[in-house]
Amino acid sequence: MKIIVIGADGQLGSDIVSGCRAEGHEVVPLTIAQADITDDPQVQRALASSGADVVVNTAAMHQVEKCEADPARAFAVNALGARRLALAANALNARLVHISTDYVFDGAKLAPYLESDCPLPLNAYGNSKLAGELFVRSLAEKHYVLRVSGLYGQNPCLEKGGLNFVDLMLKLSRERKEVRVVDDEVLTPTSTREVARQLLLMLKAGAADGLYHVTAEGACSWHEFAAEIFRLSRSSVLLSKAAPGEFPAKVPRPKYSVLENANLKTAALNGMAHWRDALAVYLREKHGIG
Ligand SMILES: NC(=O)c1ccc[n+]([C@@H]2O[C@H](COP(=O)([O-])OP(=O)(O)OC[C@H]3O[C@@H](n4cnc5c(N)ncnc54)[C@H](OP(=O)(O)O)[C@@H]3O)[C@@H](O)[C@H]2O)c1
Repeated sequence: MKIIVIGADGQLGSDIVSGCRAEGHEVVPLTIAQADITDDPQVQRALASSGADVVVNTAAMHQVEKCEADPARAFAVNALGARRLALAANALNARLVHISTDYVFDGAKLAPYLESDCPLPLNAYGNSKLAGELFVRSLAEKHYVLRVSGLYGQNPCLEKGGLNFVDLMLKLSRERKEVRVVDDEVLTPTSTREVARQLLLMLKAGAADGLYHVTAEGACSWHEFAAEIFRLSRSSVLLSKAAPGEFPAKVPRPKYSVLENANLKTAALNGMAHWRDALAVYLREKHGIG
């Protein structure tokens, strides 16, 4: 297949590019300089007559505080950008793969969210991503919307200043005697390589169009995740639970955003590993740990 990847130098985009290449697909990686999804003529130039079978959109404005400060920009990228790509993909008769987020939920359910659960975002980021999902699901004739969560990957997360949570914990464990981490946000940290692998599985199997939760199996708090990072890396740093209010969030976030890969499981296509196993692979491959 010919696959265009938008946001190709990002954390997830770069793993999708390498995963697709490894499977023998023809890949056209596009960075923001080549295809800014807020720029109509640029998107037209990049996509029209490309002959692509699949367009993967990993581009987003996803720094929660930045989105809250500039919701118009967040909507321009996350919602209207997605709409623009849906129309461009239709013109190519291509499938649009659009990446969304666990932050479309408010966290009140306190049990894993299914694709059929009603979203209720708490902040501008979540609202703009939900609007993007709805544009794609209502306009793109062929589409997969993949909700992912707590991403970490070999390549830096560009929007969040480069260091993902795992690498930040490793760095802090070398610099400090004690590391304090919040215990009141539960999610499923997910490796970008796993998401790329899952997407390839779906494309190969010809999965039905629709909305899919694509996260690792299991769930943990950030504190539990840090504990596993330190256990696997044999760090002797003291890990403590942050006191309530110690790291006050400037923008409301869901306290519980675990997603169940229900639609993948129904289709017998869930290839996502447990978060502990995926973390061990990541630490071995990126840091030579274990
Ligand atoms: N990171 C997480 O923990 C997380 C959690 C849940 C969902 N997600 C979703 O997962 C997706 C991928 O995230 P990621 O972690 O891979 O992010 P990332 O590393 O920041 O990559 C995003 C890419 O999109 C590009 N981009 C930003 N604005 C763009 C625009 N207007 N037009 C074209 N490209 C643009 C960025 O380029 P520049 O850096 O040059 O601007 C970057 O290459 C996003 O949809 C995000 O909402 C992420």
